[in-house]
Amino acid sequence: MAEPHERAARREGERLAELGRRRGFFFPSYEVYGGVAGLYTYGPHGAALKRHVEAAWRDRFTVKEDNFEIEGPTITPKAVLDASGHTDGFDDMLVTCPSCTASIRADHLIEDHTDVEDAEALPPAKAGTLITEHELACPSCGTPLADEPVESFNLMFETAIGPGDGDPGYLRPETAQSIFVEFPRLAEYARSSLPFGVTQIGTGYRNEISPRKGLIRVREFTMAELETFVDPDRNDPPLDRVADVSLRLYPIDAQRDDGTAYREESVADATDAGIIGDPWIGYYLGVARRWYDRIGVDGDRLRFRQHLPDERSHYASDCWDAEAEIDGDWIEIAGFAHRGCYDLSHHAEASGEEFTVFRPYDEPIERERATVSPDMATLGPEFGTDAPSIAAALEELAETEPGAFADETVLVSVDGARFEVPVDATGFTRETVTETGEHVMPDVIEPSFGIGRTVYTLLVHALETDVVDGEERTFLALDPSIAPTTVAIFPLMDRDGLGEQARDLAASLRSTGLEVDYDDAGNIGRRYRRQDEIGTPYCVTVDYDTLEDDTVTVRDRDTTAQERVAADELPSVIKALLAGDRSIGADG
Ligand code: ATP
Ligand code: GLY
Repeated sequence: MAEPHERAARREGERLAELGRRRGFFFPSYEVYGGVAGLYTYGPHGAALKRHVEAAWRDRFTVKEDNFEIEGPTITPKAVLDASGHTDGFDDMLVTCPSCTASIRADHLIEDHTDVEDAEALPPAKAGTLITEHELACPSCGTPLADEPVESFNLMFETAIGPGDGDPGYLRPETAQSIFVEFPRLAEYARSSLPFGVTQIGTGYRNEISPRKGLIRVREFTMAELETFVDPDRNDPPLDRVADVSLRLYPIDAQRDDGTAYREESVADATDAGIIGDPWIGYYLGVARRWYDRIGVDGDRLRFRQHLPDERSHYASDCWDAEAEIDGDWIEIAGFAHRGCYDLSHHAEASGEEFTVFRPYDEPIERERATVSPDMATLGPEFGTDAPSIAAALEELAETEPGAFADETVLVSVDGARFEVPVDATGFTRETVTETGEHVMPDVIEPSFGIGRTVYTLLVHALETDVVDGEERTFLALDPSIAPTTVAIFPLMDRDGLGEQARDLAASLRSTGLEVDYDDAGNIGRRYRRQDEIGTPYCVTVDYDTLEDDTVTVRDRDTTAQERVAADELPSVIKALLAGDRSIGADG
């Protein structure tokens, strides 16, 4: 059985919550009014880190993948979510403590305290039976929950659009639907040519039963989603771009068979061997793996797990999750779903609009087509008010079963009643038409990333301690391009012109596009510790030598090595460091 990566320090979540609050990464919102569970504010460093993760996602999944990005509303009319299946199916299981009234997610309670691994897929009644059989109790107050009802709880936040009772609506639970409903227009922008992809980075809302674990389960969060519209008959992603990328896979078989561990496979091998059934999913797992490496997710603490059949969302035919290990638990940080034509077909049916693209044939083809032109002057007197329905039924029959018009009369059914119509009155003809293509409804492949969970993973995986000058030091080994601040500039002290020179240097670095912090508070050692804890990769000190020879020291966060460089070369030195073209402490 695959085990979570063993960690010496297993309390990363707690350490991070403390660091997050103290250093301004994230903290619970509305605390002066007592706080609201599941709502978090990103402080200055957290907001910068999140912004950088979003920019890196946009660069990869929108720009480099050649997709286009939209921004839809977060308020969604009920009709949209009726059609998508969310008003009926977007539920979790709730059990309420009869004593302290805590709301508890029944499937999590069962998974945390029994051997059952996929409790989310259970019917609520079965979950209730398991709670009774295993004598499970309220995690808050210890009251037994035996025989307490387990209910389905819809996770969407309901609202009314407009004054008074308004029209019913919801805050969107995923950004995806605001892409699907605009498909007819988006397809035009893509010149109706498949495949094409549409991305969106925006807020999703879920009224989680029991928010927990910092940013991992919250009620309002940023999602980054890509809906790729692909030709259902041409399953040909550019797999060669990621063929060699190595994936740690945890497929269904391995999860069911306790003796089987992960499969480490390249994208090419995993798709060839059918471990990943759909090539587009394989492609995006490869792209995602590279992207996670690039932004600093620890590859030893990352796996791709296939959903068990009962676990899949109502719209998905296959789904894999990217999971990151945090405090010994595996947490879903992104989902990769094959949504088929589920969403487009449901919106087409509910709206009556066309959700297809026209796919030209390689060569035009000739086809025989049967049509009718019913003679209403005959059908009207003969069939009365049924005549229009009979005419419509004749049209359909001509298309689906032209042979039915071979005799003198043709039989049609309307609402269960059968009518015999003389073929002469139907205007039945056969003609040869030239067709240049056909309308197809695309399949949808969806990589869906939680930005908050990604930020949280980066922080946990970057959290390090070592000993410097005999003292324990905490630092965040964030990738330099993702860190909230790239360079911190310190004057040794704010006098004798050092402060002024340092401020000028900070301004000139900022003008090159770098994110720069100026800090003159406290002794230098304390300033280094502060920047280490927010993950600033490079600290630059302006000292008395600077006044003499115009050089400054650059210090590397991870090694604490220092090097003097000419102040006017600092921008190019920092850019070379960011590009990995040089290091601190090495020659030159
Ligand atoms: P979970 O099973 O953990 O509730 P999910 O399967 O409901 O997650 P998806 O519906 O696939 O999640 O949502 C896509 C992504 O959005 C997830 O991979 C995750 O990163 C993020 N996400 C979902 N729910 C939350 C939440 N309550 N708080 C923060 N991020 C979330
Ligand atoms: N769009 C993926 C999800 O919300 O489940």
